[in-house]
Amino acid sequence: MEFLYFLLLLIAGIISVVAIVISVVFIYLTVNAGFMNTSPSVPSSGKVRDALISDVAARLEKSTESLTVMDLGSGWGTLLLPLAHRFPQHKFVGIEYSRLPYAVSCLRAHKLANMRFLRQDFFKTDISSADIIFLFLLPSTMQKLADKCHNELKKGTLIYANRFKLPSTEPAQTISLGSDYYTYYIYEM
Ligand SMILES: C[S@@+](CC[C@H](N)C(=O)[O-])C[C@H]1O[C@@H](n2cnc3c(N)ncnc32)[C@H](O)[C@@H]1O
Repeated sequence: MEFLYFLLLLIAGIISVVAIVISVVFIYLTVNAGFMNTSPSVPSSGKVRDALISDVAARLEKSTESLTVMDLGSGWGTLLLPLAHRFPQHKFVGIEYSRLPYAVSCLRAHKLANMRFLRQDFFKTDISSADIIFLFLLPSTMQKLADKCHNELKKGTLIYANRFKLPSTEPAQTISLGSDYYTYYIYEM
């Protein structure tokens, strides 16, 4: 009886240790960009995700030249991958610092010649070739990013900012699909 009790305790202990190790590894892989005081890997979702994708798709459809679409902090590839599948004539670049979302995005982009994911800090990335940019980042990051966008982006580049505004910049359009939570902003450089 005592042996059985000991065995159950041992099994429970082993399961707890494994669960803790898996959680720590998962947190390390997903939120390590968060340790740099930036946004967690929460994807754009629901009606805002769909509206962002269909708005950009409409622009890509109309364009006769090949455009470059970037997502700064591309997470799991939620916004870029559906567009890259649909528009092989345009280029898509996702910049993502966190290891797990980056690795999953790369796997999902398998076989897509027009899609690249780079594991980088987007503050160190050259964004001057972008025609369209997606942003879904915390206000503190948007503040830092505003200067980079103004300094590096060419005239006419469109920025789609989900939920949080680009500071000190007037949006060309504010699209509200309900509350602030369901709002995105379009900026034209
Ligand atoms: C809120 S998620 C948005 C994901 C995706 N853009 C979307 O809309 O579904 C923000 C992502 O930005 C990444 N990120 C934050 N700061 C970054 C930085 N300086 N360089 C690269 N990635 C960063 C985070 O790791 C996170 O995955």
